Amino acid sequence: METVDLVIKNAAQLLIPKKDNARATLKIISDGAVACSGERIVATGKTADVIASIKNSKATRVIDASGMVVAPGFVDPHTHPVFFGSREHEFHLRNSGKSYTEIAEAGGGIRCSVRQLRRASKQQLIQHCLPHLDHFIENGTTTIEAKSGYGLTLDDEIKSLEVIHELNRLHPIDLVATFLGAHEIPDEYRSRHEDYVRLVIEEMIPRVAELQLAEFCDVFCESHVFNSDQSERILTAAKQYGFKVKIHADQLTSGGGAALAAKLKAVSADHLDHINDQAIQQLKNAGTIPVLLPGAVFFLGLTQYAPARKLLDAGLPVALATDFNPGSCMTESLPMMMTLASIYLKMTSEEVWCATTIHAAQAIARPGKIGTLENGALADIVIWNIPNYQYLPYHFGVNLVNCVLKRGKIVREKN
Ligand code: NIG
Ligand code: FE
Repeated sequence: METVDLVIKNAAQLLIPKKDNARATLKIISDGAVACSGERIVATGKTADVIASIKNSKATRVIDASGMVVAPGFVDPHTHPVFFGSREHEFHLRNSGKSYTEIAEAGGGIRCSVRQLRRASKQQLIQHCLPHLDHFIENGTTTIEAKSGYGLTLDDEIKSLEVIHELNRLHPIDLVATFLGAHEIPDEYRSRHEDYVRLVIEEMIPRVAELQLAEFCDVFCESHVFNSDQSERILTAAKQYGFKVKIHADQLTSGGGAALAAKLKAVSADHLDHINDQAIQQLKNAGTIPVLLPGAVFFLGLTQYAPARKLLDAGLPVALATDFNPGSCMTESLPMMMTLASIYLKMTSEEVWCATTIHAAQAIARPGKIGTLENGALADIVIWNIPNYQYLPYHFGVNLVNCVLKRGKIVREKN
């Protein structure tokens, strides 16, 4: 019998996302309990069975979750948290009729954040990011994928990735770093796109690899930014340097991004609001995870959401992410994404839970380690002040977290 450090018992529902063929299903245990030893989960099941299978010591902490739901901490597999300042003026411009593309073409959008980030020191960036990481934890997220992409010079991209590594050390949330030097064409390269592509391939990728600053490489594949051919060259170089790859694919137009993701066997293809039927099959055959970002469609005031039902009906393990960034989706809340996905993507409540846990973990190449409550997984656990799993997407716009544990330690408790 194992002596445990923590037991959460009497949960109205204990949610265990479980792999079941290509897609996961949600196992629901009523009157459930979970026991943890150190950073890991060691037992789950009915409260009586878990209690009978473990040993408590004087130091064991016991939490009573009566009337509440206990679930894995959320995994947010697509965020852009390293920026400086904000762009609320663009939000209001859009709401008075300007489009995202018009604002970008006039020098705003990503390039506005690039100018802001370049002026900030590493220390200023860290201080700017920390409160946002608190918001992730407060909303039930215990791991995020975090992209660079507002630097767009060798030094500013390295600065951004070093900030991600420093934040990982300073904050309880786990960050998984992605290099996104191909996020936009910076001001100084507007008339020579190809030179910028060469800078990314010949200088940035080798240097980021040498410094071991990122696990993934991503590209914004869209005809007005990096077209399919340029994206392929960048990601092929990245793979040669050992990066796993991701693509911002088919977000604003059907630009071949998803097909490219399949061709390169990308870990994930993200956005997909304009994906076509052929590319859905290609993703399926390649084992690429679709990451949908309904918050960006919503926040940009657009109407074409990703064809989630088609992706799910093709058997794909759909993940959801916030896309947290200062331009197209200024929120750290995955519960909000669950609500949007329920309404606009027509996903079931079981599907939105799997999409923010087990499938999201697959989208950052960490299956079985996070996003589940199975034995051996990290003890990243959220206790929700809700009566059942269907309630969370339904009661939107308020915080229903009771308690968040990261690696077995309480990092957030409701006052
Ligand atoms: O994922 N698509 C490109 N990048 C971001 C937007 C970033 C910004 O506007 O600052 C996105 O939506
Ligand atoms: Fe994004």
